Amino acid sequence: MRPSLRRCLQAVARPPPAFVFDIDGVLIRGPSVLPAAKRALAILEGDNPFKVKLPYILLTNGGGVSERYRSEKLTRQLGFKIEPEQYIQAHTVLKTLSHKYHDSPVLVLGGKLDQVRQVAIDYGFQKALTPLDVLSWNPSVWPFHQLNPSEQASTLPIDFSQTRIPAIFVFHDPRNWALDIQIICDVIQSAGYIGGPHVPLHQQKNPVELVFCNPDLLWKSDFPVNRLGQGAFKAAFQGVFEGLTGSQYPCTQFGKPTKATYDFAAHVLQERLHKMNGHAGRIYMIGDNPDSDIAGANAAKWESVLVRTGVFAAGTTPSHQPTHEVQDVEEAVSWAIAREF
Ligand code: G3P
Ligand code: MG
Repeated sequence: MRPSLRRCLQAVARPPPAFVFDIDGVLIRGPSVLPAAKRALAILEGDNPFKVKLPYILLTNGGGVSERYRSEKLTRQLGFKIEPEQYIQAHTVLKTLSHKYHDSPVLVLGGKLDQVRQVAIDYGFQKALTPLDVLSWNPSVWPFHQLNPSEQASTLPIDFSQTRIPAIFVFHDPRNWALDIQIICDVIQSAGYIGGPHVPLHQQKNPVELVFCNPDLLWKSDFPVNRLGQGAFKAAFQGVFEGLTGSQYPCTQFGKPTKATYDFAAHVLQERLHKMNGHAGRIYMIGDNPDSDIAGANAAKWESVLVRTGVFAAGTTPSHQPTHEVQDVEEAVSWAIAREF
């Protein structure tokens, strides 16, 4: 039997691989699509020796908008249909938490605040509030930022000195670190209120829950040098809080490389496979950040492929050893398919 026919039969017999793509530094850089991205997706969409469509999802520590909005934008950018169900961002996992705070006023931070508020409401956080609502209530909370007409405040008239905030969610990368750190410290130190007396943490019965969705200290945009991410904001907050209280504040962390996010992604991938009436063999995570993409994939027992087009600098030793290192996402996909079939 000709080897190529045997390989084809083997390919049909064995469950095909599935792919999980990081976005920033792998598929795009800032506003630009990386040239190899479209070629890589074309291979998975059927332009491969076996003429099979291979399943894939996107898993990013980015966010700030709805999954539908971003998947439609990625469809336009990449030239292939990206369904909202194929797209997981830093805060998507919060959909599983919203029931806990459905009717409670919670503070949501990051990105363009009116957009993040709407994302939170769509997730089920019906009373999502932002730092701009706090400034609308009392501008002297942070005298160095005057609200401009485009900064929408919540329609809910809120007196933050009388309204307890039980939880704070940092959805996306904050734009005004000083304002956001001030407000987080106010809420935590005054046991959920703003402007009230400080209550020592050991005396607080229900300390405020603080949740971060992206631990990235650095990420790859279109600037030649890596940029500070939400992990840097978290470090800045913890530095201030430690200066104020003598210790850092216990918080919950989601996003790559956390197990919660990879477990969530594995579930989404299984649903995608079910929708395609298939099941997967090995899962290949293709990423540019050893601390998030490679670390999380290795812990999840996936195959991890590190590209040199993002955070990771070629020629250096990655903090987490990938299954394989390549130049770009097209080489990653080609290597995986050659390895599988
Ligand atoms: O804010 C996004 C950045 O932290 C990294 O995004 O797509 O490389 O996980 P990504
Ligand atoms: Mg990346």
